[in-house]
Amino acid sequence: MRVDDKVAIVTGSGTGLGQAFSWALAQAGADVVVTELPGKESQAEATAAEVRAAGRRAMTVTLDVTQLSAIQAMVDRVVGEWGHIDILVNNAGINIPKWAVEMTEEAWDKVVDTDLKGTFFCAQAVGKHIIARGGGGKIINVASIMGVVGYYYRAHYASAKAGVVNMTRVLAIEWAPHNIQVNAVAPGYVNTPLTKPMFEKREFYEEVVRRIPLNRVGEPQDIAGAVVFLASPAADYVTGHTLLVDGGWTAW
Ligand SMILES: NC(=O)c1ccc[n+]([C@@H]2O[C@H](COP(=O)([O-])OP(=O)(O)OC[C@H]3O[C@@H](n4cnc5c(N)ncnc54)[C@H](O)[C@@H]3O)[C@@H](O)[C@H]2O)c1
Repeated sequence: MRVDDKVAIVTGSGTGLGQAFSWALAQAGADVVVTELPGKESQAEATAAEVRAAGRRAMTVTLDVTQLSAIQAMVDRVVGEWGHIDILVNNAGINIPKWAVEMTEEAWDKVVDTDLKGTFFCAQAVGKHIIARGGGGKIINVASIMGVVGYYYRAHYASAKAGVVNMTRVLAIEWAPHNIQVNAVAPGYVNTPLTKPMFEKREFYEEVVRRIPLNRVGEPQDIAGAVVFLASPAADYVTGHTLLVDGGWTAW
């Protein structure tokens, strides 16, 4: 499960899961493009420093995945500086928890534009590059258990992540002739800056832990192995799949 000398882009990788994925891919031999939102350059630099400490090249790129022109500019820059892209980890995502009856158009659009539309157009830009250079690559979309089961307080997020799960299947089918494997990783609840405010509500945290057969929420490194696997030749015959890494949440 090595990705030696591959070029991997990990979106939204200044914190949380993206940071762990970047480090794990670097440990497995990849050079990593760390992308972050404008204003979060210092977090991107911290992740890049971890990649370099693992002995690999790191590039930081400022990217808001809801800005389609910025996505193409990022791909052009990576190809211009490093020649090619082999792996995309579509990790950037947000949640703005809300009850369905309190949902606003603004919250809906922000979550769906980032988690679904941004994920699609990053995949499209990288997919077009890989197809143009003759094929062969891996795209890993970060979905969520909320893409395959429901939970209250997150209709927009669950809809977007379910969209990611099915979009993954479509891209896998369309790009199979180009030897691009497209898969998703669906984490359960993980300790990251995204979930920190949710877990500050002690009752919610305890409810979540009670629901997990392995009896704890995940840590970012619990999810990273699945991403390295799907990025590696060990997964050459796996495509269109959503790999649940959830401590057993969806087992019942
Ligand atoms: N933490 C969990 O429990 C959990 C569970 C399932 C799925 N996920 C998914 O994992 C991914 C990473 O989440 P995390 O928990 O590490 O959260 P996080 O908030 O730590 O990281 C998300 C990153 O995405 C970046 N980002 C946000 N909007 C962006 C945009 N428009 N363009 C580019 N980057 C943007 C943020 O700056 C941040 O660095 C998300 O897609 C999330 O939905 C997380």
